[in-house]
Amino acid sequence: MTSRRKFIRNAAIGAGILASGKTDALAKTPAPTIHQNKPLVLSTWDFGIEANKDAWKILGSNGRALDAVEAGVMVAENDLHGLSVGLAGLPDREGHTTLDACIMDEFYNCGSVAFLEKIKNPIRVARKVMETTPHIMLVGAGAQQFALENGFTLDEYKNPEAMKAYQAWLKEKKYQPVINIENHDTIGMIAMDATGNLSGACTTSGLAYKVRGRVGDSPIIGAGLYVDNEIGAATATGTGEEVIRIAGTHLVVELMRQGRSPYEACKEAVMRMVKIRGDKTKEFQVGFIALNKQGEFGAYCLQPGFNYAVYSNNIPNILFKSDSYYA
Ligand code: GLY
Repeated sequence: MTSRRKFIRNAAIGAGILASGKTDALAKTPAPTIHQNKPLVLSTWDFGIEANKDAWKILGSNGRALDAVEAGVMVAENDLHGLSVGLAGLPDREGHTTLDACIMDEFYNCGSVAFLEKIKNPIRVARKVMETTPHIMLVGAGAQQFALENGFTLDEYKNPEAMKAYQAWLKEKKYQPVINIENHDTIGMIAMDATGNLSGACTTSGLAYKVRGRVGDSPIIGAGLYVDNEIGAATATGTGEEVIRIAGTHLVVELMRQGRSPYEACKEAVMRMVKIRGDKTKEFQVGFIALNKQGEFGAYCLQPGFNYAVYSNNIPNILFKSDSYYA
């Protein structure tokens, strides 16, 4: 049997591991798919490292994947300096930060909130929708009312850094998505627990300076997140409109059902986007990460710069560099 140390070294060579987020130093690699033992958690971007730590506290003590992904993404939601997730996120065109989130478990149960304001942990509200209502998705004022009725409190937090950036943006009011904003965007997390069950969570403040009321892919089941406990799970980051257009994560899971590895499935979904959108794909970023029932994982994205964090018994919570369509 491969020793843990040897396994990690081989994995690093085969999959473009980033030990400390230094993307430039690493070569682009062909197929970052590694067979893993359960439990296992992976999440998008550099901030996935901190999120995975809280998820692992649950997974590593035989907890449920659903609890792990909820706890994990809350780390990003609670970060008062993060500009793309939670109440600290960059606002819409009118200066309001609005939040989208969804969660899905091993039984096809799912819950979602969108266009939610002044609530610190939208992922917890999404889980509450899933577990206590006959619905899947609540939006806007109704979602906020539901949260307040269920013990959540209003939070007026305004991130000074986000407000400063917004004031600067107001001078020109350009509406142009920026690729790889500060090396993060949505946090999407997918996990397999020790029993082999899968769950996922996805949460974001969405596109900076969006039109008021805009909702991206992150709270849309099948776009920002999809979990099929027989097959695998996938989550997405990047420009939500493009992910919704191809029902991105549902597509990735269905491709895995047809026999593709997680890496191949993510890549094929990105190629679908390229086929449909052509040169437009030069202007935005989309990345997928996926995990199958065998514990294999992979990722693929449009633009270089997308990292994802992986934590298992064999991989001590490190960043992997995703392959990209463009060099
Ligand atoms: N992927 C996040 C968004 O487009 O809102």
